[in-house]
Amino acid sequence: MSLISPAYAAQLLEKGELVAVPTETVYGLAGRFDRDETLRRIFTVKGRPFFDPLIVHVSGIEQAKSLVSEWPEIFDSLAKAFWPGPLTLVAPKNDKVSSLITSGLPSVAVRCPRHPMAEEILRDLKVPFAAPSANLFGQTSPTSAQHVLKEFNGQIPVVDGGECDVGVESTVISARKTSKGKWIVEILRPGGVSRQEIIDVLKSAKFDFSVERATSQASPGNLKHHYQPSSPVVIVEGHRDEKIILSALNEKMPGKIARISWLDLDDDPRQAARTLYQSFRDLSGEAQAIAIERKSLHSSSDWEAIWDRIQRASFLKLNKI
Ligand code: TXA
Ligand code: MG
Repeated sequence: MSLISPAYAAQLLEKGELVAVPTETVYGLAGRFDRDETLRRIFTVKGRPFFDPLIVHVSGIEQAKSLVSEWPEIFDSLAKAFWPGPLTLVAPKNDKVSSLITSGLPSVAVRCPRHPMAEEILRDLKVPFAAPSANLFGQTSPTSAQHVLKEFNGQIPVVDGGECDVGVESTVISARKTSKGKWIVEILRPGGVSRQEIIDVLKSAKFDFSVERATSQASPGNLKHHYQPSSPVVIVEGHRDEKIILSALNEKMPGKIARISWLDLDDDPRQAARTLYQSFRDLSGEAQAIAIERKSLHSSSDWEAIWDRIQRASFLKLNKI
């Protein structure tokens, strides 16, 4: 199996087959949303546990609304501002949505991807597709067609849409209204749309709201360890002292690590996000560890998704060395 065109991908999807599709965030392992057999294959191919629900990808607001029993009005403003784009909205599902997609939850996650090839496929297919990131469970998400081919040994056909522009997964949010009419927006997973961008849109739409970070139980796929490259990642705050890093690693995994490769994050968070997963892959190697320095400039909300991923990918944190 190999590289295929978006038109052929839509034909395969129509028949219930799986195809890897480029999006602006990461590549997705897509299958049509309305066939349980196809959905089961997504979990099997990825080695993903059935408790981790899938995002349904839609062509726009109208298709999203066809999958839910309730659509919070605040989502209209957010979808208009950010779709197509890296924002996933979680709302109560209707009975068109299989419980395989939602892992038995009463809610479904929907997003409209911003990539010309994903958009073309959704237009041709005419029904939504479910897609987790196109990597084996727990591993680094793919940001190029070559990553996907390698991950599944060429067994899954891939639409080559080049390198992903955003480079980290979408922001996942839910929203509820309190009895006093205030909206509580919960960030279930930080991602390509920052907290500040969400706040700016809701302020200008004059909503009474607050934005909170959800507890990890709110999103079953939000595991402590995830996105891990094959070499251990070490987060360093303070001096770049390789001797200290190596001896700390040697305590945890004696004799395994001989070298440190530094992953230098670009000062521009967009560029840092775009290249993060490629760097994880490039810097992984036999007897190597990947060290990343946490700097004070990394504390703004533009960096939230990047550090969420680095933390989940990390093996060790060394504070103030
Ligand atoms: O950018 C992305 O979101 C990529 C591309 C392919 O669209 N997809 C992606 O999917 O990252 P995946 O399966 O790797 O992550 C989906 C996340 C998981 O953390 C899962 O727990 C959460 O979305 N999720 C899905 N449905 C949910 C629901 N009903 N309630 C809460 N969280 C949900
Ligand atoms: Mg994933």
